[in-house]
Amino acid sequence: METRHNFGSKIGAVLASAGSAIGLGNVWRFPTEVGNNGGAAFIFIYLICIVVIGIPVMMSEFLIGRNTHANTITAFSKLAPGKWWRIEGVAGVFVAFLILSYYIIVSGWTLFYLIQSVGGQLMADRDYSLVFNNFVSNPWQPVLAGVVFMGLTHFIISRGVQSGIERFSKLMMPMLLFIIGILVVCSFSMPGSAEGLGFLLKPDFSKLTPSILLSAVGQAFYSLSLAMGCLCTYASYFRQDTNLPKTAVGVSLIDTFVAILSGFIIFPAVFSVEGVNVDAGPGLVFITLPNVFNIAFSHVPLLGYFFSGFFYLLLLLAAVTSAMSLHESVTAYVLEAFHLSRKKAAATVSVACMTLGVACSLSFGVWSNVTLFGLNIFELFDYTASKIILPLGGVIICLFTGWYLDRRFVEGELTNGGRLRFRLFRLYYFIIRFVAPLAIAAVFIQELFA
Ligand code: TRP
Repeated sequence: METRHNFGSKIGAVLASAGSAIGLGNVWRFPTEVGNNGGAAFIFIYLICIVVIGIPVMMSEFLIGRNTHANTITAFSKLAPGKWWRIEGVAGVFVAFLILSYYIIVSGWTLFYLIQSVGGQLMADRDYSLVFNNFVSNPWQPVLAGVVFMGLTHFIISRGVQSGIERFSKLMMPMLLFIIGILVVCSFSMPGSAEGLGFLLKPDFSKLTPSILLSAVGQAFYSLSLAMGCLCTYASYFRQDTNLPKTAVGVSLIDTFVAILSGFIIFPAVFSVEGVNVDAGPGLVFITLPNVFNIAFSHVPLLGYFFSGFFYLLLLLAAVTSAMSLHESVTAYVLEAFHLSRKKAAATVSVACMTLGVACSLSFGVWSNVTLFGLNIFELFDYTASKIILPLGGVIICLFTGWYLDRRFVEGELTNGGRLRFRLFRLYYFIIRFVAPLAIAAVFIQELFA
């Protein structure tokens, strides 16, 4: 069996985890949710969810992973031998696999849009909803894009923890932050951007409904990569002296910062163009934005060219680092459970996932009428993963750390055996036992029966 490596440095561990968290969820899903749920008030609630639920759950995943130094399934079996808790690990690995299979397809779209922007086709005056629909319903183009994207992810994962995941996270995350900085400045300098800022900064609490509250919890989970073993797997590569509470706070802060900055990029730009809606739904990034780029930069096409090119590069980088974590949590299991080499394990996962990915992609075109419960394959995967298994997994992780594991064990892990101070431990423990599981259960029930 291969020797198990750790991340070589603390910054590497933080950047890899942040890379997992920062993804399509920040740049694509977050602005969509903000647009649909009325702007600043949603952001306010979202921030509360991150602090009150997200950070404590992340610490729990970290401690499970680092203590056991194993893939998610083995981690639960080690901490609770012979018990049903193992199912949480199984669900985690299964769902990571399921998410990855459609995540690569959407990531492939970003690759296509990047190529189109760089080639200049995207800025030619076109009907963007037609461009988008024609592309996604094409039987082979999006599959090809998905294969290229999967190839890239596979390449990184098969190089291993230090020279793959850590190295590429250290390279890509600073690039990503730099691009975000440039785009924020560009977006602010557009005429009419003040209105977009107002939308993001002036909360209108009269618009708050219970369902907005619950969308915010769901978004917090998705964005922080919680409840599916991704962060648990990464934490199994953390060194023994890693400060878990501090790392969880750091990763959550970077992730939230990037989500909000994405809002600062997208909304001022959208508001600077008249007649474009903020609540455009999932097409915001692939239909609305190209339109905005085109109109806003019609006098200086070169700027539009840079802006859109950088934007899709940003999306692509964010997608790669998240796909890496999904891939790794499955690969780590296959590698350790079946005693395969890393290369073989990674190849098995890539090929299997890509096969499912093809089905997801075809569901936008020739297979669009293959449905179950009224959902096509893509929607079915997304629904099962994010609306059913993700919230359930969240509750189970809370119950596991809060009720099954020994309190002294948990405290010992979070303080590295008493060497670190963690003053808020009692608050953490209260949240993980009561507040978080109840809040997440509320989301789950609402999502399922709404
Ligand atoms: N957090 C990533 C994003 O924002 C997506 C992601 C990666 C994820 N791993 C996950 C979501 C595990 C849920 C669970 O795009």
